[in-house]
Amino acid sequence: MRCRTAETGLLRGEGSRWLGSMAELHTDRLLLRRWRDSDLEPWAAMNADPEVREHLGDLLSRDRSDASVAQYQADFDRRGYGWWAVEVRGTGEFIGFAGLDPVDDGMPFTGVEIGWRLARSAWGQGYATEAARAVLAYGFDTLGLPEILAVTTSTNHRSQAVMRRIGMIRDPADDFDDPCAPDGPLRPNVLFRIARGART
Ligand SMILES: CC(C)(COP(=O)(O)OP(=O)(O)OC[C@H]1O[C@@H](n2cnc3c(N)ncnc32)[C@H](O)[C@@H]1OP(=O)(O)O)[C@@H](O)C(=O)NCCC(=O)NCCS
Repeated sequence: MRCRTAETGLLRGEGSRWLGSMAELHTDRLLLRRWRDSDLEPWAAMNADPEVREHLGDLLSRDRSDASVAQYQADFDRRGYGWWAVEVRGTGEFIGFAGLDPVDDGMPFTGVEIGWRLARSAWGQGYATEAARAVLAYGFDTLGLPEILAVTTSTNHRSQAVMRRIGMIRDPADDFDDPCAPDGPLRPNVLFRIARGART
């Protein structure tokens, strides 16, 4: 582990509320919450959608999709942050995830990265940016992180647009090839950063 871990989860941040070992985050339109069994089916549908997976890799089987949720919940319980399930408050609809995760081992940098993944039907409504702002606030104000990173493929322009909207900056000198990705479009990656205090 190369980052701050679970103890930080004992703190309580503005706009967040503890539910067991996991804080809920509220925004104008969204609730970031613990995963529920009812999320598994729409989550699996997202992970079987080639458009959602275009910059992520293989489509996931239902078993692998379900296993990912079990892992997210275990990570959250262990360290106090991770991938929240994202729900639209007005309708209760599950639309994907957003959150924070330690950078994978083997990457040419270390730290904690922010990320998001929404169902295709939820794109184009500002939900990813709204969730990301709440996650950034949690990372800086509650976890006390000095910096948050974001990584995506060079061709994932929609995700890079979210990074820019929340005030993250890319230095082309940080561009790198993902050592875990096969040769092809998933390999060239970009790195965005934001320091505490630089949030917009
Ligand atoms: C990356 C991803 C989350 C981006 O979603 P997104 O909907 O494009 O991003 P935002 O939430 O910031 O929405 C911005 C769009 O909503 C529009 N919008 C509509 N209503 C809005 C509102 N009330 N507030 C803000 N923006 C609004 C914006 O104008 C913008 O439109 P545009 O795409 O035509 O420029 C989404 O494409 C995705 O899930 N991709 C697959 C998974 C993935 O690649 N994840 C990232 C891996 S690193």
